[in-house]
Amino acid sequence: MVKRIGILTGGGDCPGLNAVIRAAVRTASRDYDMEVLGIQLGFEGLLSGQIVPMTTEVIRGILPKGGTLLHTTNRGNPFEYPTIDEHGAAVCVDRSAEVVERIRELGIEGIIAIGGDGTLRIAQRLCDMGIPMVAVPKTIDNDLAATDYTFGFHTAVAVATDAVDRLHTTAESHGRVMILEVMGRNAGWIALYSGIAGGADIILIPEIPYRPEAIIESIRSRQKEHSNFDIIVVAEGAKRQGGEESYLDKASRRLGGIAYQVAGDIASAIDLEIRVTVLGHIQRGGSPIPFDRILATRFGKAAADLIARGQFGTMVALRGDVIVAVPIEDAVSRMKYVDPEGDVVSTARSIGIAFGDGR
Ligand code: F6P
Repeated sequence: MVKRIGILTGGGDCPGLNAVIRAAVRTASRDYDMEVLGIQLGFEGLLSGQIVPMTTEVIRGILPKGGTLLHTTNRGNPFEYPTIDEHGAAVCVDRSAEVVERIRELGIEGIIAIGGDGTLRIAQRLCDMGIPMVAVPKTIDNDLAATDYTFGFHTAVAVATDAVDRLHTTAESHGRVMILEVMGRNAGWIALYSGIAGGADIILIPEIPYRPEAIIESIRSRQKEHSNFDIIVVAEGAKRQGGEESYLDKASRRLGGIAYQVAGDIASAIDLEIRVTVLGHIQRGGSPIPFDRILATRFGKAAADLIARGQFGTMVALRGDVIVAVPIEDAVSRMKYVDPEGDVVSTARSIGIAFGDGR
């Protein structure tokens, strides 16, 4: 019988992380009489000794809160841990053996790792080294093929939809083209869903590279129908046909700035003013909507169950309306992108939304 487990959050934060933590801690202690240790700042906490007992008091009131009580970081991969060598040069060293030793010293018999693809890869490698790991996927991008939805996605869509609604009224008042850039990395899910929910005129996603002439043509044809404003929702990973993604920082592959590129692509050909809004981290912060709280709670409970049953090396996932366990390995190897010929895009096209490809 497992008596003591650890829980951590890694990678970027996401609305619903606290709901997972709360459900996992409650299930582990109530159903299985386990003690839960919170490992702060992802795997980093094992190296720096930032460990907190997850008592009832600690998790009280966290369900509606965004972010993560355990804090998180995009750095601190124990297999490639950044440090400075004796000559003052920045290097990466493998500290995974220290992590394994620390887990054993703490008497941790299972770890619930909540994270995106980076965290899941680390979890898989530690599992291969004999650490009993169970994973919970998180990303607002909804780009993991192993699960129908990740928590946080619908909250991000709700925030982006609200932004589209707000841009609508000002666009209409001034007769302007409003371009809203949303997140999603190389998947267009947030742009597609918020664009449809908010009634955008044009949606630009990575899966359907755009042609500036096609966007211009869509704007002109609406003008002919006496609609003198347009809402364009563009995914941060969108690109021109034959072009490349727009990066804020290419070395770290941080996407951003495509909305300004689109504005530049069309500005000289249209007689409407253009304004750009980059939604940024607003869509990742704040309280999760009920759907995400419930999905996160189900994931947290299921992760504790997997630990209790000794089903290590697995990740919880949503299939239809059922929570299942899938190998972590499968989960990290397959991404999920918008199908350009799929039902959602086809619905959008039927109601007159353009995708900047001239169709
Ligand atoms: O993967 C989640 C996400 O929010 C992406 O949509 C976005 O590209 C990225 O993280 C932003 O990362 P950071 O918080 O490091 O700027």
